[in-house]
Amino acid sequence: MTDDTIRAIAESFESAREVLVFAGSGLSAESGVPTFRGEDGLFSDEAIVELARAGILEREPKRALEWYEKGRRRIREVEPNPGHYALARLSQTADYTVATQNVDGLLERAADAESVELPVHHLHGSLDRICCRECGAEADASLDLSEMPTCEACGGLLRPDIVLFGELLPDEAFDASARAAASADVCLLLGTSGLVYPAAGLPERAAEAGAELIEINPNPTELSERCDTIVRGKTGETLPAIEAEMPSS
Ligand code: APR
Repeated sequence: MTDDTIRAIAESFESAREVLVFAGSGLSAESGVPTFRGEDGLFSDEAIVELARAGILEREPKRALEWYEKGRRRIREVEPNPGHYALARLSQTADYTVATQNVDGLLERAADAESVELPVHHLHGSLDRICCRECGAEADASLDLSEMPTCEACGGLLRPDIVLFGELLPDEAFDASARAAASADVCLLLGTSGLVYPAAGLPERAAEAGAELIEINPNPTELSERCDTIVRGKTGETLPAIEAEMPSS
């Protein structure tokens, strides 16, 4: 990443009024959370792809719930990385909205640590929330899903409150993200391959509404050719570098 590019991005941020952040698993990679694709991604194991598909919680609830409880434990053991913290602080320089595909809650933890308010819309849900498979009621998040707890309201099996392939995205999160895309001056694509719709359609909506698209990712993605500025780098290094260039920093 060249200093000129970083300076140019810092100037875009400085002049932006509304910023939409479209985040993917790469933003959490430097926290030790595995991404899905790429040579060491979770989806290199077909068994894990199957666990991410709708219907698995009906077909093989025990195996699925044990896997997701493992994931819940893992996100409690990792910490936000410098990219999360820098993003939380940068979000105070304009009206930021985050549309995240991540389910790890690390960005919110960084925002809490920085005592900043940051609207984060979870397009694919949150691993740290659980709900009833039948009635959808939210349940006590401290329960251990591998013990197959049931819903107090209806007796249905509890599940992680995440969106599996083939399931519908939460309307409220998607609609709020789409509204932000329609008015953003800048859309920041952080650590996402841009492969999964309808979430990956949000940067396109922002571009059509006139936003500058800025991608930060070590690798090319499905959305790269739509981007105005590209930094082939890690978010954990690039976001702090941008923050350091901000005149207000
Ligand atoms: N900094 C920035 N980007 C990174 C980093 C890093 N340190 N490390 C990896 N990346 C990039 C990779 O180059 C890749 O483009 O992060 C991206 C991760 O892509 P995916 O693994 O496909 O993850 P994501 O885009 O979040 O997947 C979208 O697909 O599997 C479903 O629901 C799941 O929300 C997920 C969705």
